[in-house]
Amino acid sequence: MARILIRGGRELHGTVDVSGSKNSALAIMAAAALADRECVLENIPFQRDVWTMAKILQSLGAQVWVDSTQRFHINGTTINNVRPPYELVRRMRASFYAAGLLLALRGQAEVPLPGGCSIGSRPVNFHIKGFERLGAEVRIEHGCMIARAKTWQGAHFYIDRASVGTTINMMLAACRAEGTTVLENAAKEPEVVDVAIFLNSMGARVRGAGTDIIRINGTDTLRGIHHTIIPDRLEAATFAMAVGSVGGRVTLRNVMPEHLRSVLLKIKESGLTVIENDAELIIESDGNKKAVDVETATYPGFPTDLQQPFVAMLSTAQGTSVVRETIFDGRFRYVDELRRLGADITVERDTAIVRGTPRLTGAPVEVTDLRAGAALLVAGLATEGETVLNEIDILDRGYEAVDTKLRAIGADVERLDDDGPNIPDFNDFSEANVAL
Ligand code: EPU
Repeated sequence: MARILIRGGRELHGTVDVSGSKNSALAIMAAAALADRECVLENIPFQRDVWTMAKILQSLGAQVWVDSTQRFHINGTTINNVRPPYELVRRMRASFYAAGLLLALRGQAEVPLPGGCSIGSRPVNFHIKGFERLGAEVRIEHGCMIARAKTWQGAHFYIDRASVGTTINMMLAACRAEGTTVLENAAKEPEVVDVAIFLNSMGARVRGAGTDIIRINGTDTLRGIHHTIIPDRLEAATFAMAVGSVGGRVTLRNVMPEHLRSVLLKIKESGLTVIENDAELIIESDGNKKAVDVETATYPGFPTDLQQPFVAMLSTAQGTSVVRETIFDGRFRYVDELRRLGADITVERDTAIVRGTPRLTGAPVEVTDLRAGAALLVAGLATEGETVLNEIDILDRGYEAVDTKLRAIGADVERLDDDGPNIPDFNDFSEANVAL
C-alpha cells in the first residue's frame, strides 16, 4: 500500500510550479479524439486520472502517445470500439466523457455507469437527458449506458443544475450534430471555457462558454491542433492553503489568479497575504489565521473541491468557522479523519462547524477521496509528530508529484511505497511502446 509520511511543523518556503489542470486535461483529451487528425496537448499533468483517460482512449482504438518533451499526441481517427472496459471507467467519473465522444464520432456508445463515490451520489441523468435531446435512444443494461443516435440534431437543452460534466459532454456531443444546440444553465467553470477554446481552435463553433448559455453549431470537420492546458487552480489553491496551515512564504508559478478570485478573497479574509504578479502568486503566512465562513457554489463561487483543504486550514484558525457544502451531498466524510488529528469539527447536514484549535497531533489517517487527501496533507503539515496518509493512490489521481513538490519547499514528507513505486507508468505511452 502506498503511503505518505509527514513530520509536521516545518514552514514552507520556495517556489512551486503548478501543473496543468486535471479536470481540463481529462475533458480535452476526450475532445482531441474528435478531430480528423492528431492533436498535440501541452501542460497535461502526469497523474493517475490522466493515465486512466489515456488508457480509455486507447481501449477505444485511439492512438495516444507522449513525446520526449512530455506533449500528449492523440489521434481518434482509428477509434473502432464503442465500449470502454468497466475496469477503467469505474476509476473516475470523467470517463463518462467517452460517451459524448463516441456518440459524436460513431453515433453509438456503450459506457458503464461511473456510479456514486465517496463525496456523495453522482448520477449521470442530466448527461443522458442531453444525449436524448440530441436524438439518442438510451437504455441502461447490466450497469451500462447503451446509447444509439437515431438522428443527431442540435436541440435546446436546459441543464437542471449547472453541471460541469454535463456541459462538457454536451459540447463534445453537439459539435458534430446537425444544426444548433443551445445549452441553458450551463456551467461556467474555467475548465468548460478551456474545452470551448479548444473545440473552437479545431474549427467547431461554440459561443458563450463562461456564461449561462452556450450555443454550439455542429460541423463535419474538426482539424488537429496544438493546445496548452490551463493551470490547475485547485492544485495552486491547495498549496496556498498548505502555507496558511503551517506558515511560510511560497511563490506559485504558472497560475491564472483570475480563476481563483473567490478563493483568494477567502484566504485573505483569514489573514494570509497574497501578492499577485501576472501568472504568479506569492502566498505568505505566519501560520496564525482567523476563522472564516464560506459556502461552496458553482463558479465563480467558492469551489466545492477546495472546501476540504480549506476546512483543514481553518481547523487551526482562531475562532469558529461555518462551512456549508451546497454541491455534493456527502463531501464531509473526511472530517472523521481530521478529527483523528485533533480537529474540533462537527457536521450538521450540509454544514461543518469548525472550532479552531491551536494544535493538531500526528496520527495515521485514511484518504477517502481526492480532495480529502488534499485536506489531510494540509492538516498533516501542521501537526506535531508524524502523520501517515494511507491510500495515497487516491491523492495521486489529481496531484502530480505532490511529495516531491512539498519537499522542494521544505516539508518533511516521505513516500512509503511498500510494493515499489506506485505512480502510473507513462512509459506505456512512449513513442517506442505505442504502435503508431
Ligand atoms: N448532477 C446530477 N446529475 C448529473 C450530473 C450532475 O444530479 O447528471 C449533480 C451532482 O451530483 C452534483 C452537481 O450536479 O451534485 C454538480 O455536479 P457536476 O456535474 O458539476 O460535477 P462533475 O462534472 O461530475 C466536476 C469535477 C469535480 C468537481 C465538480 C463540481 C471533473 C472531472 N470533475 O465533476 O471535481 O467537484 O465538477 O465543480 O471535472 C475533483 O477534481 O476532485 C472533482 C471531484
